[in-house]
Amino acid sequence: MLRGFWYPAVRGDQVRGRRLVTTMLLGIPLVLGRDDRGRPFAVRDACPHRAMPLSQGWFDGNQLQCSYHGWKFDPCSGQCTEIPSLVPGQDLEVSKIYANAFPCRERDGFLWVYVPEKGEKVRGDFDAGAPPEVPKFSERYTLTFLSADLPVNVDHGIIGLMDPAHGPFVHQAWWWRTRHSIHDKQKAFEPIANGFRMSAHTPSSNSAPYKLLRAYAKADSITTTIDFVLPNCRYETIHAGKYWFASLTTVTPITPGSCRIDVRAAWNIFRLVPGVLPIFRFFGKKFMEQDRRTMEIQAEGLKHDPAMMLIDDADRPAKWYFALKQALLDSRRTGEPMKHPMSGPVTLRWRS
Ligand code: FES
Ligand SMILES: [Fe+2]
Repeated sequence: MLRGFWYPAVRGDQVRGRRLVTTMLLGIPLVLGRDDRGRPFAVRDACPHRAMPLSQGWFDGNQLQCSYHGWKFDPCSGQCTEIPSLVPGQDLEVSKIYANAFPCRERDGFLWVYVPEKGEKVRGDFDAGAPPEVPKFSERYTLTFLSADLPVNVDHGIIGLMDPAHGPFVHQAWWWRTRHSIHDKQKAFEPIANGFRMSAHTPSSNSAPYKLLRAYAKADSITTTIDFVLPNCRYETIHAGKYWFASLTTVTPITPGSCRIDVRAAWNIFRLVPGVLPIFRFFGKKFMEQDRRTMEIQAEGLKHDPAMMLIDDADRPAKWYFALKQALLDSRRTGEPMKHPMSGPVTLRWRS
């Protein structure tokens, strides 16, 4: 589980009013909420005094108070503001005590939390830069999201996400493709910072949504670009004339043995056609459920430490992912710049 990155923790609309919401991120228990000014916060769900879960305490919209000995904290910075047991003259410096608050920002309907590297001292008000976001190419667009819990380690979630060969078997459906539509494919890839790109190409002609899009946009050229960027982001962008569709999919480690996939999609295509959003969500959910169910079954096979393999070319993106991860860890350890595992553009071929 790679630290030192932003991860989506919960959906923003789950955190309303003065409600406290708990979740887990990279094995860290968190309590999330919003102060009365609407600013989201994320704090380790353990009081720095004696580890009482702060989610069991009281939140007045401003201060978070532990239910055990009543210590109070500013949840955005984590700073302690009151220790009720102190008597005048006791010189404990309350303001030097901090609950473990993390930087927390809202983007595309999710609350993102920056999980610092081990040993990196970070407080809630630390500026960790901007979290990832769905690229948007016009003023007006539709935005939606879908999520599913996956009972596998994040690496299996991520390589499943970038796996080009499971489509005809896992995603069989009359509206998408059948097992018989399997055919030779060839795609160009190139290295990008912290990841790799499936270079801009015309999407495969054998799927119904693309046929529909081509007809609607009356565009002779449709191009798709897919990027993978560490630690867990897959960006897909489709341009068809003045129309566009973009998504950001993340697979986020929850515990060492589980992760969650979140898709946010934005588009300006079909905006004036009624019913497009529910249709998109209906098919999106089906698609995601096929992946989720597959990984649920795969988790059975993973239980007893099986031997596994990655083959060329279909599993090459998975190999790049593992190599990128290793390169990042090496560079952090040595302080040297990260050595990208790809030396230049590569064309991969497979059948799907
Ligand atoms: S455990 Fe929280 S105040 Fe003591
Ligand atoms: Fe899939």
